[in-house]
Amino acid sequence: MNQTWWKEAVVYQIYPRSFCDSNGDGIGDLQGIISKLDYIKELGVDVIWLSPIYRSPNNDNGYDISDYQDIMEEFGTMADFDQLLEEAHRRGLRIIMDLVVNHTSNQHKWFLESRKSRDNPYRDFYIWREGKDGKLPNNWGAWFGGPAWEYDKQTDMYYLHLFTPEQPDLNWENEIVRKKIYEMMTWWLDKGIDGFRMDVISMISKVPGLPDGELLETGYGDVSHACAHGPRVHEFLQEMNREVLSKYDIMTVGETACVTVEEAKKYSGFDRHELNTVFQFEVMDMNFNENGKWNDLPVQLTKFKSIFNKWQTELDGCAWNALFLGNHDQPRSLSRFGNDTTYRVESAKMLGTCLHMMQGTPYIFQGDEIGMTNAYFEDLNDYRDIESYNVFHHLTEEKGMPKETVMRYLQLVSRDNGRTPMQWNDQENAGFTTGTPWISVNKNYHEINAAAATKDKNSIFSYYQKLISLRHRSSLIVYGSFHMLMPDSEEIFAYERVLEEQKLVVLCNFTDQTVDYAMDLSGYEKLIGNYDGILNGQLRPYEAVVVQKNMIFKD
Ligand code: GLC
Ligand code: CA
Repeated sequence: MNQTWWKEAVVYQIYPRSFCDSNGDGIGDLQGIISKLDYIKELGVDVIWLSPIYRSPNNDNGYDISDYQDIMEEFGTMADFDQLLEEAHRRGLRIIMDLVVNHTSNQHKWFLESRKSRDNPYRDFYIWREGKDGKLPNNWGAWFGGPAWEYDKQTDMYYLHLFTPEQPDLNWENEIVRKKIYEMMTWWLDKGIDGFRMDVISMISKVPGLPDGELLETGYGDVSHACAHGPRVHEFLQEMNREVLSKYDIMTVGETACVTVEEAKKYSGFDRHELNTVFQFEVMDMNFNENGKWNDLPVQLTKFKSIFNKWQTELDGCAWNALFLGNHDQPRSLSRFGNDTTYRVESAKMLGTCLHMMQGTPYIFQGDEIGMTNAYFEDLNDYRDIESYNVFHHLTEEKGMPKETVMRYLQLVSRDNGRTPMQWNDQENAGFTTGTPWISVNKNYHEINAAAATKDKNSIFSYYQKLISLRHRSSLIVYGSFHMLMPDSEEIFAYERVLEEQKLVVLCNFTDQTVDYAMDLSGYEKLIGNYDGILNGQLRPYEAVVVQKNMIFKD
């Protein structure tokens, strides 16, 4: 397999609004990030993925962009960005930017022009349709609730928005739109950034004719199947690759909702000239039911394992996995897959082990390295995310669910759980801001914070440092093939990695009990684990242990 830096890298995702506030306005900013680069370097990662920092009215926290070549006022200036890039590069850290080009903000100058008249030169930058018999152009529902169409009085037509009405979808069929986007990407790459994470990139090509989707519980037609992996998406990405990406030594990762293994091989196959990798959401979405993610179903380990097993084995040798258990759109991975009370430290290390020992490029979401947990807000007013509000009203008012039930769902799966401020120390507001934070700090910051973690040799942070450095020193961990062991166990996630003579076995207990296993580990040596020693044939609560044979280390 071809060796490349982005396969060997570990990525750290920063959600800038919640990372570090330098000027006391309660909102994280670029100077705040600069002040924490040493911390990120100390962790040992190679790449930072910055969630959007562009000019934005913040209807969807920066995923609604009004100017792609300017910085959000609350975050700083372009000079601050240039300084951030330089300071990161000086420390050997690369930066990849979020690229949000399925839609813009409705405040983007293209849209302001487009809505002016039916014959405006920018009209065709967006997707405008006539109503059908006095009704919406089709039955599609928007991702965050409500219809996917917004009526615009000015020209008596509707425009398409797969997300909020403030996020009109760009018309990728229009080649001028594509050209403008490629120019903008080139401008950033010429500045020296190291790649892109591409927001909902699987949705850019819409099925011609925009046919109705299958009617869902929400009362709207399914939009994901009408828009995910549309007929021209691969053509567009190959064009983007030809015109832009292939000219730089960068990394790309696509956010591809509803992606299957087959489809992922098209986006990121080594011979496809599209993207380097994609995020698949099968694990994140494994508990979806008729209310989507809004439920309290427990995680079934065999299902979790079989999804990883499929992606690990089927991409091996032909495409590359992006490994993650959470991000800014998800609850905290520790609260979801581990135990955020009695075994918080053990289970955070176990989850880190389980993920970082697989084949692929691991992503750490800010705060996971210190074991941050869900916020479990008790008051609806503590939430900030538009999706959470929309769903609360939909489930309580339209579907008549009890408020307590829906509040419980929000506590478990709201995106805001992953968006509370980074916990830096045990001072006021966890050291995130001297002002009033835009979203409340998790109450547990006295115990869970970076200052404490970086001082403690046994902390989750120290353990992550070891995981990352092992990956840097071992081709087996990066490139070895994956074989699942004990597939039927509902308690243990076990697998081996093999590269020629080199071998490692990973055993992870996903329960709060001591569990037995029948596997002979004689001849193996312990590489890393979250408890002292190894018990014979037993794993302690949330224990993770990795053993190896014939492993070769660099340097
Ligand atoms: C992606 C982003 C999410 C955003 C949405 C619309 O899923 O990760 O945060 O709300 O796209 O841009
Ligand atoms: Ca600030």
